[in-house]
Amino acid sequence: MKLTKTELITYLKTDDVNILHELFFEADRLRKKYVGDEIHLRGLVEFSNICTRSCLYCGISRKNTNLQRYLMKPEEILETTQKIVDAGFGTIVLQSGEGALLPEKITGLIKKIKEKFNLAITLSLGEFGFEILKEWKEAGANRYLLRFETGIPGLFERIHPGSPLSRRLKILNDLKELGYEAGTGIMIGIPGQTYESIAEDLLLMKKMDIDMVGLGPYIPHPDTELGKEFFAGNNLLVPNTQAMTLKVLALARILMPDINIPSTTALATLSEEGRTSGLNAGANVVMPNMTPAQYRKCYEIYPKKNAEFSFDTPEETREKISKYLKTINRIFGRGKGNRKQIT
Ligand code: 5AD
Repeated sequence: MKLTKTELITYLKTDDVNILHELFFEADRLRKKYVGDEIHLRGLVEFSNICTRSCLYCGISRKNTNLQRYLMKPEEILETTQKIVDAGFGTIVLQSGEGALLPEKITGLIKKIKEKFNLAITLSLGEFGFEILKEWKEAGANRYLLRFETGIPGLFERIHPGSPLSRRLKILNDLKELGYEAGTGIMIGIPGQTYESIAEDLLLMKKMDIDMVGLGPYIPHPDTELGKEFFAGNNLLVPNTQAMTLKVLALARILMPDINIPSTTALATLSEEGRTSGLNAGANVVMPNMTPAQYRKCYEIYPKKNAEFSFDTPEETREKISKYLKTINRIFGRGKGNRKQIT
């Protein structure tokens, strides 16, 4: 559906319950029509919190010295991969801080996972050049997540020291060219963000023909520069709330009806109903955190990161998730959950 920038801004700013009801109804209708009732599950493995970047909002920024750093061994990653398969998920998401592991080691890991398991591999490792992304694609990686967080160039550069917005957008183009399914997204309610910029960000994602969009509220982390500013009382123009995130999510579904949209952990962290509210406003993907328990507390990119979908055994995980999905009239996704693009 076509929505102009002005219309998007009107939706983002409205508090009219009737208009919002219609917005969520339409997003849910399009979700059902284009991607159906299946919820695709992606097993997330945060294999290292080592990071070479110093992003102002992120709890695992290299500037955060209050943190024990870890790197999972390849055997541990493969054991976790087995759990993801046993839980019945079709995708593994390998996430870490940027530069945690040498690119050639990542290549080896991708090859091993592809050899042993019938899983789609999504990478979420930060900014890399064309040649490295090509090597990972050829090794068997299928998808890549790289949010651009905000399309305001000055704000982007301020919160990501050392790298301009143009570089990140170029990488997203490279990913498409290399045949990856490319995912991006933004945080909602970053200090300095505007309604106009969010409308533009959504239109940019559509123009780029992005395959997946991840949206979550900005959650201030007290050990970060931006978090400290936030708590000191900052120029918050767009609220970092569940309600605002849901509006952006619904608009993303309406603009891009056939893409994959997760109901994110950041959204789930805001309230008990966060996850469900996302799934009812256009989302069709959930990314349960499968990182071994002993590492989780060290991967706090923001405080109180929710772990509602973590259970003791893969069987229990599968059962509990299936039960939960039944309560919201949805079904456990089969297969790898690729984007089924409409032409
Ligand atoms: N609040 C919310 N989301 C965050 N992320 C990183 N730090 C925070 C935070 N403080 C998100 C970013 C990144 C993803 C992996 O986590 O959007 O792309």
